[in-house]
Amino acid sequence: MESLYEEAARLISGKKGCVALTGAGISAESGIPTFRSRGGLWEKYDPAVYASIEVFRKDPSKYWTLRGDFIRHYDDYHPNRAHQALADLEKMGLLRSVITQNIDGLHKKAGNKNVIEIHGSLRETYCLKCKREYIAPDIPEGTPPYCSCGGVLKPDTVLYGEQLPFEALSRAQEESSSCKTMLLVGTSSVTMPAASLPFLAKENNAVIIEINIEKAFRNADYFIKEKAGIALPEILRFIKDLLL
Ligand code: APR
Repeated sequence: MESLYEEAARLISGKKGCVALTGAGISAESGIPTFRSRGGLWEKYDPAVYASIEVFRKDPSKYWTLRGDFIRHYDDYHPNRAHQALADLEKMGLLRSVITQNIDGLHKKAGNKNVIEIHGSLRETYCLKCKREYIAPDIPEGTPPYCSCGGVLKPDTVLYGEQLPFEALSRAQEESSSCKTMLLVGTSSVTMPAASLPFLAKENNAVIIEINIEKAFRNADYFIKEKAGIALPEILRFIKDLLL
């Protein structure tokens, strides 16, 4: 494993232009369940019911049953060593951006500045009637909660059946198709259009380094079978040695 960390460190520090694409696996060590791993959210909640915009329009209590608790305890969730390592890489000028499918806000909490949240974030919630903004964890009680104007509240996240935010998706495609190295961390690479981004990077001859506890992306150049909270700090340690 050491040699893989060293090779990853050489690529990231040597080639510049590194972009990270992250999924729920990077937040697993912060106590946030993933979606498809054993004991994942989709085992307990059918996404076609609890994460669909069509259902939200008829019965918003479903999505709020899924996400209300996280939003009301938003400040109790903290970045782990994997998030921290990516923030350090950005500060060192070795990581250009983080494209994330996660809506937990932990990359920004870790200090990353250039974060592209392609599925939105649970940090902000809006009234669908008067557009008033609410910032987690300060939202009215109730499942669903209502605004003082009587409108129902919806978190600023992308539900199934909704378009991804145009600006975020275009930036993510730009970053993917112009990076030299892509760190693919903790994603099952099944959800589109996020799962198309590593292919964009490959088309640009980028080197893909996958970090996951199980192999998910078949076209990775390097596969590091390890928890993100162990692998990323190790890679950072090798980079610091290289730059000494
Ligand atoms: N370190 C690294 N990888 C991990 C860890 C860990 N500690 N724990 C789990 N993983 C890996 C799993 O092996 C799996 O490949 O993280 C991945 C999580 O996959 P999913 O649960 O499918 O999450 P994700 O890829 O982010 O899902 C994408 O699908 O349901 C939608 O909107 C939802 O953003 C989500 C999207």
